Amino acid sequence: MPDGSIRIGVLVSGGGSNLGAILKAQRSQELGQGRVVLVVSNKPDAYALERAADHGVERLVILRRDHASDESYDQALIKSLDEHHVQLVVLAGFLRKLGPQVIGKYRGRILNIHPALLPKYGGAGMYGHFVHEAVLAAKEKESGCTVHLVDEEFDHGPVIAQAKVPVMAGDHPEDLARRVLEQEHLLYPATIADFCNRLSGVQGSIS
Ligand code: GRF
Repeated sequence: MPDGSIRIGVLVSGGGSNLGAILKAQRSQELGQGRVVLVVSNKPDAYALERAADHGVERLVILRRDHASDESYDQALIKSLDEHHVQLVVLAGFLRKLGPQVIGKYRGRILNIHPALLPKYGGAGMYGHFVHEAVLAAKEKESGCTVHLVDEEFDHGPVIAQAKVPVMAGDHPEDLARRVLEQEHLLYPATIADFCNRLSGVQGSIS
C-alpha cells in the first residue's frame, strides 16, 4: 500500500477482547504501521463483531454451513482477505483451524495469541479453561501468553513474544485466565505494532 501502512485482517469467533485491545491501540496511534481493515467471524453472534462496528471497521461473517467443504470455506476466506488487500492475518480467538491454502498464501504473516507459555500447554484441545486447568494441575509456578506465527500444526509456529504471570496459591482457572488475559491485551497490540513496523520496512517484497 502506498502510505506504508500494513493492512490487517482479524479473524474472530467470540468475545473479541483482544480485538478490542488492538482497535483501542489503533485509535490511540499505538499500532505502529498496522491498520485493521477487516474483521471476519465464523460465528454470526460473536460480540467481537460489535466491537468492530464500534470502531467503524468493516466486518464479515463467513459461515462454515454455507460452504460444502473446508476447502471452499478457506477459498471464501482468502477471497475476502484478498479483496481487502490484507497483508497480515491476526487470529484473535478464531476457533477454526486454517487450512493449507490459507497458511500457504499468508505464510509468515499469520499471528496467533495463545494463553500459555508455548511450547507448553498448546496443541489440539488446549484452549480456554482447559489450558489454565492443565497449568494448575501441573502445579506450575508461572504461566502467561504467547504470540506466535501460525503454521499447519496447532500452536506450533515460531514464538514471537511472550509475557509471564505468576500462578498464585489457591488460584482457580478463572483467576489465572483473568491474569493472563490482562497480559494478552498488552502483549498482542504491542507485538502487532512491532511486526507491522518490520513488515513495513520490507514493504516492497510483500505487497
Ligand atoms: C484468548 O484467551 C486467546 O489467548 C485465545 O482465545 C482467547 C480469545 O479471547 N486464542 P477474546 O475473544 O480475545 O476475548
